[in-house]
Amino acid sequence: MSRIAYVNGRYLPKRLAAVNVEDRGLQFGDGVYEVVTVQDGRFVDEDLHLDRLERSLREIRIPMPMPRGSLRQVLAEVVRRNRVRHGLCYMQVTRGVAPRDHPFPRKPVPPGLMVTAKNLAGYPADVDAWAAKAILYPDQRWERRDIKSTNLLPNVLAKQAAREAGAAEAILYDEATCLVTEGASTSFWIVDEEGALRTRHLSNAILPGCTRAALMQELREAGIPWREEPFTVEQTRRAREAFVTSATSYVRPIVALDGQPVGDGRVGPVTRRLFEIFGRHVKGAARNAA
Ligand code: PDD
Repeated sequence: MSRIAYVNGRYLPKRLAAVNVEDRGLQFGDGVYEVVTVQDGRFVDEDLHLDRLERSLREIRIPMPMPRGSLRQVLAEVVRRNRVRHGLCYMQVTRGVAPRDHPFPRKPVPPGLMVTAKNLAGYPADVDAWAAKAILYPDQRWERRDIKSTNLLPNVLAKQAAREAGAAEAILYDEATCLVTEGASTSFWIVDEEGALRTRHLSNAILPGCTRAALMQELREAGIPWREEPFTVEQTRRAREAFVTSATSYVRPIVALDGQPVGDGRVGPVTRRLFEIFGRHVKGAARNAA
């Protein structure tokens, strides 16, 4: 079965789906994106992702390509046409097509929209098998990391460094302050030396993760305390537990950093519990929407 992509109003086989060479997303990375998980054919935390898409667009002054209701229909249609049961849906909105010139086009052009979807394994069955290694890596990104921009070159380089080190993720830190920001494509959490669950507070320094927000709601309901405050590379190295969250990582234990074990090098009790809680959230999202 050929994969179907939605590009600017048309559903096309992927091999025929193309964007204009003057699309500003291609020329300047002048666009934003979202990744939404699909579980049992339903979107997980779709509203959180669409809220963030609208916010990212507002921050860089690109209009929504269509009303939210219509966009939801396009996303659902791409998932349906690709027969995705468990997987992800990717959407990208760009400032549209115009002769290459850095400022916004003088005469407004319609934003570009492309949507793809693919199958992935569903929620992992085994948290120990899901555990991953990470490296620490300098955060070389711009000052507006709260915007989910398609400019991902520093993230790409960090991820490649992780891969070359045999790790799945790069945990980024500010070189001037040695404070950890987040993963190259994930939010980052630790259980510190004293046993406190911590993740960095929201600001321009990190992306406001939708999984982070959804997990916090679950923590609230389960009465599990956490703190939103920065921590250093050193505190991270001494942490009892560490894990990342994202639409496609869910809650993923990090059991080694730069080749050294985190805690005793095994998945800790807090991470194990949150993995289970988040599994119920992901599967519940599918049930509630059904
Ligand atoms: N990444 N931080 C960064 C830099 C990210 O790129 C992501 C998401 C997150 C987690 O956000 P969320 O929980 O909303 O997925 C944090 C996506 C999955 C990606 O780039 O593929």
